[in-house]
Amino acid sequence: MLRKTYYVTTPIYYVNDVPHIGHAYTTIAADVLARYKRLKGYKVLFLTGTDEHGQKVEKAAAATNVSPIEFADNVMLRFKYAWEKLDISNDDFIRTTEERHKNAVYRLWKESEKKGDIYLGDYEDWYCTADETFLTEKQLVNGNCPDCGRPVEKLKEPSYFFKLSKYGEPLLKHIEANPSFIEPESKRNEIISFLKEGLRDLSISRTTFKWGLQVPDDPGHVIYVWFDALANYLTAAGYPENAEGFWPADLHLIGKDILRFHAIYWPAFLLSAGVELPKKVYAHGWWTVDGNKMSKSKGNVVDPLAMADTYGVDAFRYFLFREMPFGVDGDFSAKAIVGRINSDLANDLGNLLSRTITMVEKYRGGVVPEPAPEKDREFETNIKAIFSGLPASYGAALDKLNFYDALGKVWAAIREMNAYVDKSAPWKEKDDGTLSNILYTLTEGLRIVAVYVYPFMPASARKISEALGADGDIAGKPFDRETAWGAGKRGCKVTKIPSLFPRIQ
Ligand code: MSP
Repeated sequence: MLRKTYYVTTPIYYVNDVPHIGHAYTTIAADVLARYKRLKGYKVLFLTGTDEHGQKVEKAAAATNVSPIEFADNVMLRFKYAWEKLDISNDDFIRTTEERHKNAVYRLWKESEKKGDIYLGDYEDWYCTADETFLTEKQLVNGNCPDCGRPVEKLKEPSYFFKLSKYGEPLLKHIEANPSFIEPESKRNEIISFLKEGLRDLSISRTTFKWGLQVPDDPGHVIYVWFDALANYLTAAGYPENAEGFWPADLHLIGKDILRFHAIYWPAFLLSAGVELPKKVYAHGWWTVDGNKMSKSKGNVVDPLAMADTYGVDAFRYFLFREMPFGVDGDFSAKAIVGRINSDLANDLGNLLSRTITMVEKYRGGVVPEPAPEKDREFETNIKAIFSGLPASYGAALDKLNFYDALGKVWAAIREMNAYVDKSAPWKEKDDGTLSNILYTLTEGLRIVAVYVYPFMPASARKISEALGADGDIAGKPFDRETAWGAGKRGCKVTKIPSLFPRIQ
C-alpha cells in the first residue's frame, strides 16, 4: 500500500537578514507538524530554505563589499545553524541559487509562456525593494510603501508581464469551492475582497540589476524574485517530475505579510502552468516585543538562539505556541516567557515527573508496579477517561493548526494528574493495591504525556520517557499505539533526573 504523504513548507528566508523570532516561529510550527505527522505514519517532506536572489540581497552584498553569492553562502549558514540548534527536523533545505531550482523556475516560466500568459511590455510605476513588491501610485501611503512604511523607488524599464488579470475569476471560484484553501478565515476574506477589486497584470522581470535568474532566451532580464522564490516549493517536490508524490503541497505556512504572494500570485502561476494547487496556505500572526513592533532600527529584534541559550530550546519552543493562538498577533516579553516556564513547565510538568519518580523509588524500590484495575476508584477512572479522549482531541487541534489548544488539552491532563496526587495522598495510603494503582496511573499518564509533548519539545520528551524507564525514541513509534492507555512496557525502572525545567527567579 502507498504511504500517505505530507508536504509542509516554510517561507524561504531572505539572506539579507539573520534569523529572528519571526523566522523561528514559522519554522518551529512546521517542525511540530512534521514531527506529529511522522508519528502518525506519514511520509513527510518538510522544506525550508533561503531566498537568495533579487535586488535587496544584491544591495546588502554590495554594502559589505562581497559578491552576492559569497554573501548568500555566509548568511545561509546562519539559518542552517539556527535550525540545527532549535532542533528543526527539516528533510530538505533549498537555496534559490541551486541548479535544481533554476531548472524548475525555467520550466514553470516556459509552461506559462506556452499558455500565452507572458508578454513583453514596459513597467512604469513604484517598487519597494525591502518587500520586493511592485506598487501603484495609489497604493503608496505618504509616498512610502503601504506595508513596511519604507521609501519606494520609481521604476521605468522594459519588463515581462504575467497575465494575472486573467486569473482573478478562476481563483475566486477555487477559494469559494475550497474554504480551507486560505486560513484563517479573516485572511481568506481579505483575499476575497482583494480579488473582487480585480487584478492587474504583474511585472515578472527587471532589467536594472543583475542578481537573479535570467529570463529564458532574454538574458537582459532578471526574473522577478517572487516568481523565482515561490517556485522553490515545486523544485523540492522534484518538478516537473513528482516521483515521490509530494505535490500538491499540503500546507504552505507563512506570516500574514506575505499572504498575497502565496494566495494570489502563486496559485495564478500554477493555474497558468497547469500544475495542481497546494491544499492550504495558512497565514499566522506576528510577534510584537514588549508591545512594540519588532525592527532593526528599534534594536528590539528577538534572537531565537539567545532565547534558547537563556531559557532552553524546548522552553522557547513551548512558549511560542502556548502564549497565543497561531492565527493572531501576540506579544513577546521576558516576563511572559518566564511566567510560562515557571507555571506550566516547572510547576505542572516538571513537578509531576519528579514527585512521581520520588514516590516510585520510595514505595516500590524504583520499579513501576503492576496496576490493580479491580481497585480502580473514581480517581483512576477519571484519569483514564481523560487520556482516552486525548488522541482524537489533540490530533484534531493539530490538524487545524491549533497548537494552542493541543497544548491546552495536554496541560489540562497534567494538571488533573497533579490534583489526583494531592487528592489521593499516596503517602497516607494503607492499601497496597490502591497504592500500586496510583503509582502506575501516574507513570503511565506521564509516559503518554511525553508522546504528546514530543512534537513541541523533542529533547524533553526523550528525557521524560527515559526517566520513566520507557524507550526514549518516541519518533520511531506509532502515535496511535503509543498514546493508548496501558501500552507502556511493564516493570520499568525509573531514574531520578535533574530538574527538567528549573524555576527562573
Ligand atoms: N523571502 C520571502 C519569502 C519567500 S517564500 C517563497 C520573505 N522572507 S523573510 O526573510 O522576510 O521572511 C519573512 C517571514 O518571517 C514571513 O513569513 C514573515 O511573516 C515572518 N516574520 C517577520 N517578522 C515577523 C514577526 N515579528 N512575527 C512573526 N513573523 C514574522 O518574506
